[in-house]
Amino acid sequence: MKYSPVKILIVIFSLFLAGIITIATADTQYPNLANKKELIIKRGYTKEALTCIECHAKKMPGTVEAWKTSSMSHAGVSCYDCHVVEKISPMAVQCEGMKGTNTYISPMVSSKTCSRCHPLEVEQFLKSGHAKLASKAVMDISKTGGKLIKLQYHYEGAGFMDKPDLKLDGFTPKGMPAYNRAARASGCQMCHGTKVEMGPDNKPINETWPGGVGTRYPDGSVGTCSVCHTRHKFSIAEARKPEACAACHLGPDHPDIEIFYESKHGQQYLAHGDDWKFDSAPDTWEPGDYTAPTCATCHMSGIGELSTTHNINERLKWDLMHKKSVIRSGERGDGEKGVKLMVKVCANCHGSTHIQTQRATLDNSVALYNKYWEGAVKMKKELKEKGLLKKDPWRDGFQELEYYLWHHTGRRARQGSAMNAPDYAHWHGFFQVFQVYLDMEDIYNYRIKNNKIEELSTVMSSAPY
Ligand code: HEC
Ligand code: HEC
Ligand code: HEC
Ligand code: HEC
Ligand code: HEC
Ligand code: HEC
Ligand code: HEC
Ligand code: HEC
Repeated sequence: MKYSPVKILIVIFSLFLAGIITIATADTQYPNLANKKELIIKRGYTKEALTCIECHAKKMPGTVEAWKTSSMSHAGVSCYDCHVVEKISPMAVQCEGMKGTNTYISPMVSSKTCSRCHPLEVEQFLKSGHAKLASKAVMDISKTGGKLIKLQYHYEGAGFMDKPDLKLDGFTPKGMPAYNRAARASGCQMCHGTKVEMGPDNKPINETWPGGVGTRYPDGSVGTCSVCHTRHKFSIAEARKPEACAACHLGPDHPDIEIFYESKHGQQYLAHGDDWKFDSAPDTWEPGDYTAPTCATCHMSGIGELSTTHNINERLKWDLMHKKSVIRSGERGDGEKGVKLMVKVCANCHGSTHIQTQRATLDNSVALYNKYWEGAVKMKKELKEKGLLKKDPWRDGFQELEYYLWHHTGRRARQGSAMNAPDYAHWHGFFQVFQVYLDMEDIYNYRIKNNKIEELSTVMSSAPY
């Protein structure tokens, strides 16, 4: 592995800058963000650090081999730096090799640990949807009154194959049957992350760890930094490839990787990506290393006059995931600013006529989708007033279709047009939005005319996913 002095200087310098920038905004959970510490790069390892490496090389060779290939191992950052915690930490345990010593470790490593040396990346990350919002979607019962949990957990799979003898984990809303945690632990949690619950021996319980990007750790810190540059290589080349995002951004409700592969950008990546250079130093990855953008290029990487950001909300204008698309504001970002930044990305390779056409197409797509959504809301309101909605939305054709309208077909239409995938924008998108809408209209007309709900859901399992 190459180890250039210039690279080290850049890192030291940027960490130094980062230290200055973060002083004012440091969070109390992250005391190190306030610490204007210079990075000391040790060429060798301390004796304590060596004991971890040596024993683990025998007992856990896979992990050590991966870490050995990382640039951090070459800079002297080892198991000890990331896994040793204070005895008083709520996550402190002792591994087989540490029993009887004064050293405590944890298998859990949050963004707080990384913030000791990478304060800028962590600060940006914490402002993004990948941090608190991602896990809130899967756990925050207090703010949502349990409604979201009820809807998502129970109806989107957690209640599936329920066994009444399975014990609850405290999340089940009142009046709901018990559910099997498997759906959360194997599904939602692995992408979103959830709040880690701890047992008396400082070990995670209720299958709440490991988890995805927004994992909330027992010490109050948030976020797993290894979802894109996976452990223990922590390769930025990996994170720059679209497959890094595809672990989560795929499937019927947010097919971003499918959209990307279909786009002209994806075509170039698939055809020529093997020849592109993915391992350029941070902030020096520029056109020439590649000829078309990946997810990271548009949403994160430094390009032209833009610097790298770990806040993936920064370059977005619209909210393209919720029921109605609005310009981003507050915790979702700043849409007016976002569009300006995203346009700067495109301008590295496209002229203003081309870019403005794409932006206009996206704005029009949002307007078209919103029109359908508003129509659906109007119909639903009337049905509700007349008592023509079933209590259980998943046994009610109209409400089932309403879900597919925004969550599946509508997201595909919006995200397909945002990222230049004609098939997703149209055939998996607007065409199906239109079909779903017409079916909703038919059900609506039937109910209004007959003043009753049809007996069986006309949607059943044939829904347009
Ligand atoms: C740069 C920080 C860093 C270094 C260095 C590091 N780790 Fe990790 N390690 C992590 C992160 C991040 C995770 C994922 C933690 C999570 O999801 O909460 C992790 C998870 C683990 C786990 C638990 C998951 C599993 O697969 O069982 C083990 C074991 C582990 N690391 C061992 C090691 C060993 C051994 C070394 C030294 C060779 C090492 N780590 C070096 C950051 C690091
Ligand atoms: C003498 C051997 C030995 C030494 C020294 C040692 N370990 Fe371990 N460690 C193990 C073994 C074996 C396991 C797997 C069994 C277990 O989880 O206890 C393990 C597990 C771990 C885990 C995962 C724990 C879990 O709950 O999944 C981490 C993290 C870890 N070690 C870090 C360290 C760090 C950091 C050091 C140095 C401070 C260290 N180890 C020193 C042998 C050792
Ligand atoms: C003790 C300080 C320290 C800690 C803690 C630390 N890092 Fe690093 N990290 C470094 C240094 C130094 C480099 C620069 C290595 C180089 O440029 O060759 C680096 C480089 C990196 C890189 C760039 C790798 C590349 O290919 O250029 C990534 C990604 C990274 N760290 C992620 C993390 C994550 C994620 C964590 C927390 C789990 C973490 N680091 C914790 C010191 C640290
Ligand atoms: C394959 C990974 C993955 C799985 C599994 C998954 N999600 Fe998501 N989820 C995502 C992604 C990615 C987004 C962002 C979608 C977008 O931008 O269109 C998202 C968005 C959401 C949102 C909207 C975000 C917000 O802040 O309001 C909610 C709510 C949500 N998911 C809940 C869940 C629940 C509950 C489950 C399990 C029943 C689940 N998700 C399973 C990846 C996943
Ligand atoms: C959504 C994916 C993703 C997540 C989550 C993520 N990173 Fe990164 N990271 C990247 C990408 C992509 C790059 C390369 C950016 C570029 O092209 O310069 C990168 C680069 C880095 C670098 C190299 C220096 C730089 O800023 O370019 C460091 C250090 C780093 N990440 C640390 C972290 C830490 C710490 C966290 C957790 C707070 C984290 N990353 C979470 C995708 C991610
Ligand atoms: C471990 C799963 C995971 C990975 C890997 C991942 N994401 Fe996400 N992403 C999510 C989840 C979950 C959300 C929804 C967050 C929320 O609730 O707002 C999300 C949201 C987003 C959003 C919308 C911002 C918002 O409002 O939340 C963008 C843009 C995004 N991700 C881009 C990326 C890119 C680019 C990569 C790869 C470099 C990536 N993601 C990797 C899980 C992931
Ligand atoms: C050519 C640049 C480009 C590439 C490449 C790209 N995106 Fe996007 N992405 C955009 C634009 C533009 C938008 C819409 C931004 C706006 O609202 O103005 C967007 C929107 C999104 C959203 C929707 C956020 C929301 O509101 O729900 C997600 C998630 C996302 N991208 C993830 C990805 C992932 C994952 C990849 C790679 C598989 C990717 N993007 C590739 C430019 C790109
Ligand atoms: C690194 C260079 C690069 C960046 C950055 C980039 N593109 Fe592209 N884009 C390309 C290349 C190369 C093609 C393929 C041109 C062809 O089909 O001959 C392309 C094709 C397209 C196409 C298909 C239509 C056409 O001209 O063939 C659209 C639409 C598009 N880009 C939009 C965008 C938008 C919007 C952005 C910014 C969010 C963007 N691109 C950023 C390089 C880039």
